[in-house]
Amino acid sequence: MSSNLELTVEQSANLVGLSLKDFKEKAKELKIPGFKSDKIKRNILEKYFKLTESQEYDSHVIAISNQKGGEGKTTLSLALGEALAKEDKTLLIDWDPQANATNLFHKEPEKTIMSALGYRNKDKVPLETILLPLAKNYDLVPASIELANLTTPYEMSDFELLKDALLPLRSTYKYIIIDCPPSLGLILENALICADYVLVPIQTRAFSVQGIKDLYETIERIQKKANPRLKLLGAVLNQYEGQKALSGLAESIKKYFPVFNTFIRRKETIPQSQAKMMLLSDYDPISMKYFIELAEEVRSKINVQEK
Ligand SMILES: Nc1ncnc2c1ncn2[C@@H]1O[C@H](COP(=O)(O)OP(=O)(O)OP(=O)(O)O)[C@@H](O)[C@H]1O
Ligand SMILES: [Mg+2]
Repeated sequence: MSSNLELTVEQSANLVGLSLKDFKEKAKELKIPGFKSDKIKRNILEKYFKLTESQEYDSHVIAISNQKGGEGKTTLSLALGEALAKEDKTLLIDWDPQANATNLFHKEPEKTIMSALGYRNKDKVPLETILLPLAKNYDLVPASIELANLTTPYEMSDFELLKDALLPLRSTYKYIIIDCPPSLGLILENALICADYVLVPIQTRAFSVQGIKDLYETIERIQKKANPRLKLLGAVLNQYEGQKALSGLAESIKKYFPVFNTFIRRKETIPQSQAKMMLLSDYDPISMKYFIELAEEVRSKINVQEK
């Protein structure tokens, strides 16, 4: 997180683990710069308080990641988000320059995620000003090809652009899902540094052990160097058609990732709903049941990990 990030009084209270009332009293007493204007710099806050990263947020950020193309990242991101949003406020971040999730619903959004990052000192707008609603309780942060410019880290804070941009929204949403691109690099690193959990969709037909091993090594490197809070939620088998025994597949994946009990069958209505620009619950509520089940398993895995 960049140290000159400006926080509101409420965000600052969350970050130091105090109630708003207690924080206001302390801030007045200590005469913390920026308190009156509701813009407290994070590095200033650090001088006065011990920041409690673990008490920081209510939300769970889940990166849906696999560097292989076409494994179901966008499909799972969208439909898992849709399922979670039936009970909790959920945000889907399109974090892929292909902008597949965005283009399913909006052809040319006026502003996209790139304008909220401030990469290479560009002006940035708050993330909340570019949100597009997808359904009740369910919003989208749109992307565009512009995100492909995020290739080179010029300074350390370039690894935390997404994390910083997302910070003001972390108390608004219970679940934040990041639809990652099919690549390893700065875009993926930003997602994994920002996330609490990684979920890996795996297409059962064209399964590659090497691909899973590479992703596992990237995750391990980020855990060690940049984000020790990052946890593996597990792999979800997608497009299952009964062609191979699931148990055998799951066994080879388990060397690297825990495997979800829920798996997603291949259903033609899934690409059809996307072609019709419809949410899956509206197009095929029966297929949606896989994702409702997946959402339940995600919730219970997160509850177990947080205990
Ligand atoms: N369970 C499924 N049944 C049928 N089709 C599916 C299923 N899951 C995904 N698909 C289809 O497979 C294609 C690839 O899926 P998707 O776009 O979700 O993958 P991706 O991992 O996001 O791809 P990319 O790496 O290019 O971002 C899409 O056309 C999608 O509709
Ligand atoms: Mg995708």
